[in-house]
Amino acid sequence: MPKITWVLDGGREISANVAVGHNLMEAAVANNVPDVIGECGGCLSCATCHVYVDPAWAAKTGKPGEMEDDMLEITTAERREMSRLSCQIIATEELDGLILHVPHI
Ligand code: FES
Repeated sequence: MPKITWVLDGGREISANVAVGHNLMEAAVANNVPDVIGECGGCLSCATCHVYVDPAWAAKTGKPGEMEDDMLEITTAERREMSRLSCQIIATEELDGLILHVPHI
């Protein structure tokens, strides 16, 4: 199971082993990561699962798809180059060690 770490605004870290195939919004909610809400349940209609992928991991997480890209325009926290909607990132063994920064909302 890949280990994922969420770094909160202010520096506190929450880490969890996430089953392969689960999306990282669900994993954040299951591990009580603050400020990752996942209001729409992962169907790309709320943008409340916004995170910033650590730059070292950009190549492995890939880029947002077209619909995700549109939804990233309505995030509460500012959109940045590394912005992703975490419901669209699926846990794989390749993502073991992934670091996601969580904007405070
Ligand atoms: S949970 Fe709604 S867009 Fe990700």
